[in-house]
Amino acid sequence: MTHHDDGKPCSLTRFLIEEQRAGRIGPDLRLLIEVVARACKRISIAVGKGALGGVLGDAGTAGEASINVQGEAQKKLDVLSNEILLEANAWGGHLAALASEEMDHSQPIPDVYPRGNYLLLFDPLDGSSNIDVNVSVGTIFSVLRSPEGVAQPGDEHFLQPGTAQVAAGYCVYGPQTTLVLTVGHGTHAFTLDREIGGFILTTRGMRIPGETQEFAVNMSNQRFWEAPMQAYVGDLLKGKEGPRGKDFNMRWIASMVADVHRLLTRGGIFSYPLDSKCAAKGGKLRLMYEANPMSFLVEQAGGAASTGRQRMLEVQPTGLHQRVPVFLGSRAEVETAVRYHHEADARG
Ligand code: AHG
Ligand code: MN
Ligand code: MN
Repeated sequence: MTHHDDGKPCSLTRFLIEEQRAGRIGPDLRLLIEVVARACKRISIAVGKGALGGVLGDAGTAGEASINVQGEAQKKLDVLSNEILLEANAWGGHLAALASEEMDHSQPIPDVYPRGNYLLLFDPLDGSSNIDVNVSVGTIFSVLRSPEGVAQPGDEHFLQPGTAQVAAGYCVYGPQTTLVLTVGHGTHAFTLDREIGGFILTTRGMRIPGETQEFAVNMSNQRFWEAPMQAYVGDLLKGKEGPRGKDFNMRWIASMVADVHRLLTRGGIFSYPLDSKCAAKGGKLRLMYEANPMSFLVEQAGGAASTGRQRMLEVQPTGLHQRVPVFLGSRAEVETAVRYHHEADARG
């Protein structure tokens, strides 16, 4: 646990107040982050109830699962988490509009409430396939500024590159509930103290080791990958005897939050590359509320994030639910994966 000079543990509230005093965030952004953290606490409680809370399984009426804009069946917890985040963020006066994986279009803040200057995007429940099997899931969020002079922001106003993010974070609901946050000055982790009901700073300034011997990818897609990805992972698998000269270990949780939390903690590379099944859509993971916030957190922890061909945070978005290939984690390893792509492209 990280303590203050006065020997006291540092709550999220105190951390944010001090960020505000240091001039790194304003009061509205502080409120926004507090509200998101409070919503995550509620989601954590719902997730933790599992079968006892009647929250497992698919949403929709019996025999007819409800389908979201992505064409994916929604779980009860996808819908519930989305509602918790929407409700928590409606009335505070800090937001102009919000957008979610689970909603076709962005939503302006209702007229009955004051409208603020920020835009919030979220993946309310990431790793839905893991809910029913009691494996870590999470919430991912990204904060942008609402463009000046826009009274009622629409989808197009969200289409800002990741470099424009003013804050990003995720909350992982695992053996511990941990909130990981950046406001552009390092990446910090807060663990939920379940007895007190508050987040406490447990790691200030997370650092991803530059080198790694661990990779995360869904290997069952191997035959569908592009040639440079085949070559890159092929060389990882050759281990000590291969061109990389070291053995690699593999992990795949299938919750991006949990996989990214592991690499922020002990290094590694995470990839969801282009494959022939998802190529028409541009990839599997979503740029605005999965790839961009995670890339911001990873860069702020000394790591790198790329599409394989371009720095993730510089991608100019074209759609709210746009998908991209993702490579992120330990800097040197991401650069290696990118080099395989550039070399293959150069050969034509
Ligand atoms: P979501 O549950 O929000 O739709 O996201 C799931 C994502 C991501 O969390 C994970 O890395 C990936 O899908 C897993 O995909 P596979 O099932 O293809 O391995
Ligand atoms: Mn997700
Ligand atoms: Mn989701």
